[in-house]
Amino acid sequence: MHSKKLYFGTNTKMSMTDSEAVAFLTELADCTGRFANENVQLFVIPSFTVLHRAREILKDTKVLLGAQNMCWEERGQFTGEISPLSLVENGVRIAEIGHSERRHVFGESDFDESRKVKAACEHGLTALLCIGETAQQKEVGISDEILSMQIKIGLHESDKACCAKRLWVAYEPVWAIGVNGTPAAPEYVCARHHTIRGVLQSIFGETAGQEIPIFYGGSVNKGNATEIIQMPDVDGLFVGRAAWQAQNYADMVQAVLPLFSAKK
Ligand code: PGA
Repeated sequence: MHSKKLYFGTNTKMSMTDSEAVAFLTELADCTGRFANENVQLFVIPSFTVLHRAREILKDTKVLLGAQNMCWEERGQFTGEISPLSLVENGVRIAEIGHSERRHVFGESDFDESRKVKAACEHGLTALLCIGETAQQKEVGISDEILSMQIKIGLHESDKACCAKRLWVAYEPVWAIGVNGTPAAPEYVCARHHTIRGVLQSIFGETAGQEIPIFYGGSVNKGNATEIIQMPDVDGLFVGRAAWQAQNYADMVQAVLPLFSAKK
C-alpha cells in the first residue's frame, strides 16, 4: 500500500455546447460527491466559454477546473488567445498545455509549450503538460527519445523549484487518442511511464521527480482503466470520450480507486 493520491480527469475538447457542458458539470458535481473524503484529485477541463459557470457549479466539490489552452503572455496583440490572468480570474486551477490536438492540428511546437508551462507556473496554475509520440515515431523505435525531448524542451524555460510543485504530466500517445485511436497495452504504458519518471528525476532530482504525477490518456475506458491504473508510475488517468457522461466518470473513479490504493 502507498499513500499517493489518485488523479482522474477529463478534457471535454469541443464536444459539448455550453448548455450541454452545464448539464454535464451539474451532474458531475452531484455524482462525484461520494469521493469527498477519498484520497483522490478530480478535475475537468471544459471549453473556455463555460468556465465562468463551471466555477460556480463546481465550487463546493473536489473537482478542480482546468482550461484547454492558454497564451504565454498576459496581455497584448494576441487576437484569439486567452490570458493566464483571465483564467485565474475565472477560478481556473489547471492549464492544459500541448494536448496532441494542439500540437498536431494547430501546429504548436515544444518551444510554444515551454513558454506556456513557464507562464502557467508563474501565475500559480498547475501546468498539465501533455506529451506523446506519433504512430510513426513508435514504429521506428524512438518513443522514449520523443518523450524525453518533449519534456526537456517543454520545461526548459521554467524555474525548476516553482515548476516541480506545479507540474502534472499526461502521457497520451497520439495513435491512442480519439475515435480512431488504439488503446495502448498496459505493459507499453508502464515502459513509457518509467522513461518519463526517469527524465523528470534527471531534471528535478530523485525525490521531487518522484512526486510529480504522471497520467495516462488515450482511449481509456471502463474496460482497460483498471488494468492501466495498476501499472507502476501511473498516478492517474486522463480520459476523453469515456468520461463525457458524468455517471461514467464517477463509475470509473469508483472502479480504479481501490486498485490504485492497493498498489505498492
Ligand atoms: P480519448 O481522448 O479518451 O477520447 O481517446 C483522450 C485525450 O485526448 O485526452
